[in-house]
Amino acid sequence: MGIRLHAVSHVYQSINQPPFEALKNVSLTIQATDEFIALVGETGSGKSTLVQHFNALMAPTSGEAQLFDVTLTAETFKDKKIKKTPIRKRIGLVFQFPEYQLFEETVLKDVAFAPKNFGLSEEAAIQKAKDALRLVGLDESFEARSPFHLSGGEKKRVSIAGILAMEPDILVLDEPTSGLDPKSQEMLMDVFTSIQNRTHTSIVFITHDMNWVERYAKRVLVMKAGSLVFDGTPHALFQRPELADWKMDVPDRFKVMQYLKTHHSFKDPVTTPDELIDAIIREGQS
Ligand SMILES: Nc1ncnc2c1ncn2[C@@H]1O[C@H](COP(=O)(O)OP(=O)(O)OP(=O)(O)O)[C@@H](O)[C@H]1O
Ligand SMILES: [Mg+2]
Repeated sequence: MGIRLHAVSHVYQSINQPPFEALKNVSLTIQATDEFIALVGETGSGKSTLVQHFNALMAPTSGEAQLFDVTLTAETFKDKKIKKTPIRKRIGLVFQFPEYQLFEETVLKDVAFAPKNFGLSEEAAIQKAKDALRLVGLDESFEARSPFHLSGGEKKRVSIAGILAMEPDILVLDEPTSGLDPKSQEMLMDVFTSIQNRTHTSIVFITHDMNWVERYAKRVLVMKAGSLVFDGTPHALFQRPELADWKMDVPDRFKVMQYLKTHHSFKDPVTTPDELIDAIIREGQS
């Protein structure tokens, strides 16, 4: 078991602002290997807040977060003897906004920072960084550039490379494909899949795109107003009547299916695109 949250709530406290409960009583378990989880939910539903509890960046206000062999609560989080850095190496989080993550003067130094920090020699860290940059599609010409003078999509790739270079056991990606063109989005999702196939790394990705959910995720978590309202397969999610209430879209394939269903009456009930294909084939043969 990699991550287990038990009844986690998180209240943001800011000066001159009323407290805001962004997470409400969330319980879930994420295995250390082979999970491919999409985390979805409308804007402001608590997704980014939730994933920051996955790698000890945030402490639960109440409840507990068990992250591998460390259990964090509001009290133990303050305990200096409990080291957070090893947790952040095993559970790597790519931030929603790359600017929060980038800080070195060159792209190569930025990506090599974590592997060096976690004990690799300079040379080995540089090699890991180069490999990670190639994986996310950035060639050598980017290595000496400042990470701050890149386009939004290039910054996103550098921030992803920085976490890949650390080779975490669990890879958590907060909207990894936002700001990228469709081909680059697909390329990156395929990179994550091939990493999992090779190393069994568990992957959690936040997205608003239901096509990616259907295509890549084995499991989906849905957040609504700080609560976890669904934990199941994409197939089960897209059948749920609450989708509109959760502000969820459906994949394009389902929209095409709805269109065809309203213009054609099939003999057999059709609820999924695959059943639609079967129905069309059967009717063609009859
Ligand atoms: N530092 C903060 N102080 C107070 N409230 C905050 C803070 N950060 C986030 N919130 C609030 O907590 C709620 C959850 O925010 P969060 O960023 O987790 O949402 P999200 O689901 O990731 O949204 P998005 O899809 O827009 O990225 C929002 O209502 C947000 O306004
Ligand atoms: Mg967010």
